[in-house]
Amino acid sequence: MITLEDQVAIVTGAARGVGATIARTLVDAGAMVVCADIRDDAGEGTVAELGPQARFHHLDVTDEANWTNLVQAIMADYGRIDVLVNNAAILHVGTLESTPADTFRAVQDVNTTGPFLGTKAVAGPMKDAGRGSIVHVASIDGLVGLNALSAYTASKWALRGLARATALELGRSGIRVNTVCPASGNATMFAPWFEQMTEFLQQTEDYLENRAIPGGVPIQSIANAVLYLTSDASSHVTGIDIPIDGGATAGHFIPGFNTI
Ligand SMILES: NC(=O)c1ccc[n+]([C@@H]2O[C@H](COP(=O)([O-])OP(=O)(O)OC[C@H]3O[C@@H](n4cnc5c(N)ncnc54)[C@H](O)[C@@H]3O)[C@@H](O)[C@H]2O)c1
Repeated sequence: MITLEDQVAIVTGAARGVGATIARTLVDAGAMVVCADIRDDAGEGTVAELGPQARFHHLDVTDEANWTNLVQAIMADYGRIDVLVNNAAILHVGTLESTPADTFRAVQDVNTTGPFLGTKAVAGPMKDAGRGSIVHVASIDGLVGLNALSAYTASKWALRGLARATALELGRSGIRVNTVCPASGNATMFAPWFEQMTEFLQQTEDYLENRAIPGGVPIQSIANAVLYLTSDASSHVTGIDIPIDGGATAGHFIPGFNTI
């Protein structure tokens, strides 16, 4: 059985959605989980549901001083950081020509610079302990491309590069760095574009159906993969990506061929 008994984990973007489910899964495995987010009210609500093994800490992942504060507070209270899950991210949907440069930069700042700063912040305590596991939540859009998602796609591909370089750099200190690449998440992330998307709902349905396992990916399956990567069950797994995509990146599916 996978256990994180006596371990301390940070999950960013844990106020809601995928991050909240990851936090609950790590709590259920026995970890003390620090849920870090910019959404203070939602974050406090999430930890209230998770119980005494969870606490909330305000964190803007783009702010290095925020990271220093967070790591200092955890080290003062618990004396260890075993796990960091870099889950916080933002989305921008828009064509290349309609995407302002500042928007592109803002997406890279949260989705890539954030995990870089987080990895940097926990590296010291993890090196001192001679152990640690860092998991980035990327996306299927970090494995392939998707039109009108250039800023987000670029940020998620960058995460996989960050994971590889840091896995090599930190491996001899007992620290592993891996990436999960889910093909679904919290639908709320798309909320600003819901109205425009209603025009082509069938196209998004077709996108989901053309997979080895049709349909969306349950959030719990993302959390389960994260749990595996954070635990000693994956003790020699580092520098890899796990697609959690129902086989979407396995190849192409032509329905008629299955009838031949
Ligand atoms: N939603 C999807 O369809 C989908 C698909 C594949 C991958 N993912 C990935 O899953 C992860 C979780 O996303 P989600 O689906 O739960 O979306 P979400 O929008 O519900 O959650 C993202 C969380 O990140 C937090 N956040 C945003 N900016 C932050 C910052 N600067 N500092 C700290 N926290 C910040 C938000 O407050 C929010 O709680 C993300 O990495 C996302 O890219 C999502």
